Amino acid sequence: MEELILDKTQDETRQGEAYATTDLFQKKFERHFYIESYGCQMNFADSEVVASILQEAGFGPTRNVEDADLIFINTCSIREKAEQTVRKRLTNFKRLKRQKKSLLIGVLGCMAERLKSKFLEEEKLVDLVIGPDAYRSLPHLIEEAAGGQKAVNVLLSREETYADISPVRIDSNGISAFVSIMRGCNNMCSFCVVPFTRGRERSRDPQSIIQECEDLYKNGYREITLLGQNVDSYYYASSFESFPPITFANLLEKVAQISPELLVRFSTSHPKDISDEVLHTMAMHENICKYIHLPVQSGSSRVLQLMNRTYTREWYMAKVDRIRTLLPDCGISADIITGFCTEDEKDHQDTLSIMEYCKYDFSYMFIYSERPGTLAARRYADDVPEDIKKRRLEEIVSMQNKLSLESNQRDIGKSYKVLIEGDSKKNKEEWKARNSQNKVVVFPKENYTYKKGDFVTVKIADCTQGTLKGNIVAN
Ligand code: SAH
Ligand code: SF4
Ligand code: F3S
Repeated sequence: MEELILDKTQDETRQGEAYATTDLFQKKFERHFYIESYGCQMNFADSEVVASILQEAGFGPTRNVEDADLIFINTCSIREKAEQTVRKRLTNFKRLKRQKKSLLIGVLGCMAERLKSKFLEEEKLVDLVIGPDAYRSLPHLIEEAAGGQKAVNVLLSREETYADISPVRIDSNGISAFVSIMRGCNNMCSFCVVPFTRGRERSRDPQSIIQECEDLYKNGYREITLLGQNVDSYYYASSFESFPPITFANLLEKVAQISPELLVRFSTSHPKDISDEVLHTMAMHENICKYIHLPVQSGSSRVLQLMNRTYTREWYMAKVDRIRTLLPDCGISADIITGFCTEDEKDHQDTLSIMEYCKYDFSYMFIYSERPGTLAARRYADDVPEDIKKRRLEEIVSMQNKLSLESNQRDIGKSYKVLIEGDSKKNKEEWKARNSQNKVVVFPKENYTYKKGDFVTVKIADCTQGTLKGNIVAN
């Protein structure tokens, strides 16, 4: 067990699936692309931008890798295991290329950025290597690669936000969409590769964000998640002096005002940046979901300092207190890294106790994986033995399991207005939804005529550690 993810939203892999409109599939294209995405939601959102650029260039999507003239893999470098997964997948694609010489294979995203042209030396059958800020050059690079040249563009940009590109919704349920509001990261958490693979932080023009969200709403979407590595530091200053700068709280409010029937979520919040202004905005609008993903990483102030997280244990706990004061019913989840350099048993106990204090509803828990080039890799030895890392992870996971169950049990008897996302995976006679706190809720359809995208009130009758179970209460 190298890592455990309790909720699958973050590290889930969706493989070359659906492309928004069926129209697009019915349309005739001469050449077809297949795309597979790994890593965080931002990578999935980027694949939708890539799909849009490719479609404009005359490439149609395919769900069948064998039919593709172009295969893209949008990669993640966050942990070594993420990179290994990509390499394994590439082995399969290269096998296809041996059978079909004209097939082009392109590597996109964070691994492309981290390894640059070294990728082409290591993986001889890869034709294109394109970093996250270079997707506009795809059509040109494809032509180059088709002409037999190896094509690379890994330039990072200080401006690129793909603001004007209308993403082609991949694998969409037609109800929930992710909207990128910024790119890059200016923090320098010592363990993290993202600042190197995604470049400097930049915020997208708010007009284009609002426009995209309004279009989604008009097209039947009922839930939007605003995405960024650190959404709370969103800041857009217009070049026209008469327009005041827009903060994240301002943006959140503008999106919430599109319609009370549009749910608004966001991810991720860095504890140092989430402000009272954001919390007040959340409190004021019912349709802004009461859920904050607030990665803690460690409960030990000493380790947090080595991680360069810029807060202490006490400071983080005070932030959680503040959230609970202003938003008493807010769900909180965390990311936790175990076995970071020099972490000892006391540090580990501090992590377990901060989890109990914060009563996380769920967490994403990872074993520390040293990433080449990061501050930690350069400064500190990765000195916690593997078996100890694993044991500590197990302890953290069982703590979280206990907290998740307790949290869900506290919800029994409560009623929630939820958005129906589709059938429950296990039982087609049941709907699956999520409540404002981002907990999965399943309930029998009964004889009601509700459909996907409807709001319905559900009273919770039972739960497991991962799911609330309830029944529809007449609205
Ligand atoms: N921008 C987000 C997190 C992005 S990465 C934030 O700052 O919260 C998602 C999570 O992966 C991180 O929160 C961290 O818990 C984990 N992670 C990042 N680098 C890692 C590494 N080298 N080893 C293990 N986990 C890591
Ligand atoms: Fe990585 Fe830290 Fe930036 Fe998150 S805030 S992406 S963990 S450097
Ligand atoms: Fe992975 Fe890059 Fe996201 S490293 S987590 S895909 S920003």
